[in-house]
Amino acid sequence: TSARLTVNPQFVVGRIDRRLFGSFVEHLGRHVYDGIYEPGHPSADDEGFRTDVIELVKELGVSTVRYPGGNFVSGFRWEDSVGPREGRPRRLDLAWHSTETNEVGLHEFASWLDKIGSDLMLAVNLGTRGTLEALDLLEYCNIPGGSTLAQQRIDNGHPAPFGVGMWCLGNEMDGPWQLGHRSAEDYGKIASQTAKAMRQMDPSVRLVACGSSSAHMPTFGEWERTVLTHAYDDVDYISCHAYYEERDGDLGSFLASAVDMDAFIETVVATADHVKAVKGSSKTIDISFDEWNVWYITRFEGVDKIEGIDNWPVAPRLLEDVYSVADAVVFGSLMISLLKHADRVTSASLAQMVNVIAPIMTEPGGPAWRQTTFFPFSITSRLARGIALDVRVDVERYSTKEYGEVPLVDAVATHDAESGHAAVFLVNRSVDAPVTVTVDVSALGEVALLETHTLADEDLQAKNTLAEPERVGVSPNGTAALSDGTLTVTLPAVSWTAISLG
Ligand code: AHR
Repeated sequence: TSARLTVNPQFVVGRIDRRLFGSFVEHLGRHVYDGIYEPGHPSADDEGFRTDVIELVKELGVSTVRYPGGNFVSGFRWEDSVGPREGRPRRLDLAWHSTETNEVGLHEFASWLDKIGSDLMLAVNLGTRGTLEALDLLEYCNIPGGSTLAQQRIDNGHPAPFGVGMWCLGNEMDGPWQLGHRSAEDYGKIASQTAKAMRQMDPSVRLVACGSSSAHMPTFGEWERTVLTHAYDDVDYISCHAYYEERDGDLGSFLASAVDMDAFIETVVATADHVKAVKGSSKTIDISFDEWNVWYITRFEGVDKIEGIDNWPVAPRLLEDVYSVADAVVFGSLMISLLKHADRVTSASLAQMVNVIAPIMTEPGGPAWRQTTFFPFSITSRLARGIALDVRVDVERYSTKEYGEVPLVDAVATHDAESGHAAVFLVNRSVDAPVTVTVDVSALGEVALLETHTLADEDLQAKNTLAEPERVGVSPNGTAALSDGTLTVTLPAVSWTAISLG
């Protein structure tokens, strides 16, 4: 099989916002405790953070990090997580049936972010709390001084404001599992009211209204329309969340998961633009795809559940998915989907980062290692700079149970005018055949092949584990060749590839 595409800097989709390479840290399972924070670990720094994890997170290349949840945030009292540690309460976390010790809170997390060089994106609790508590948190974080809450922050050891720019107005409020789950009408009203109040305090904040928890929610579409009808003027983004998994051994459909993500994004864009038209607004709402990943959620539903009135463990092993080669290929294709929509998806968070459906795993007292999904993220984050380009792939289609006829190859390109570098990201969804791709790169002028990386394996189920942490990685693609403005490369069956030129 063969495919053709064109990389031309004039075929602009949109500028790639660095926020597209964000991630997400929730107080959930072993993400914070025994993940990023383990005071007794040999690599722990003076604040108890694992420096081996810090190094991996830096290599991963994450921009903004969403915190502290997720479902967790809908029962969270932010005041519990600041001030002297000895005085912090132990609270029941109803979302994950665990105990939150509050040993790591806002200040500690902000300090960790400084170490990894990323920005904080905070979610406020609009499940069991309201506008006033959101305002209090904003005041504590962003007001330089002169008020009681700003002074509290200063007294707690952070004289400068945290200057949090991105704020989520609650989490997955459309989900019946969410503490304080609301109807679209009720949520739209409180989101609008809270957003207005927050802007009254700090007009510079960027605000995200909750969209749908998946494109398959029964309220999808109507939820976005109703919420934005209330909050359009008050917010900057509407969120999307999506998780994919292989179901019933249907690899063909799983490999086409990005088709669902494409449709999800395009439908939310259409809905937001519909509200824009109805309101006669000149403002455009962007998407914050602030939870996306491969997640074997059906497995979690079956096995991982913690129950019992007397059973609220601290940092239990939860959602510790171990990712395969096939998972990483799908993951890479989800990043292609985000880039293909860079004009409207201007913020995104990989859910999550360490131990919990994560690209990085840790063992208490032991090593930290990269899951298969680490590679497409770190390479895309490093190489996808400047402008995202539409490449118009010409390739055969294959038939899937879930999504009908789907292109065998999906791709996107990027071009950074400043450095003159370009990159092409490709996925071959064929389960049994390689595809040879011919890329017209003549519009780039004189360029050379800089890097090629392919993630593929004879064993699609191969994984990186504690016993074998480096079983899967990326390799240079020796088939890539460039001559006379034409790049050719062969993509193995079920593979993800990145190529940079410059
Ligand atoms: O990322 C895991 C969970 O998935 C988050 O807490 C929630 O927002 C979503 O349902």
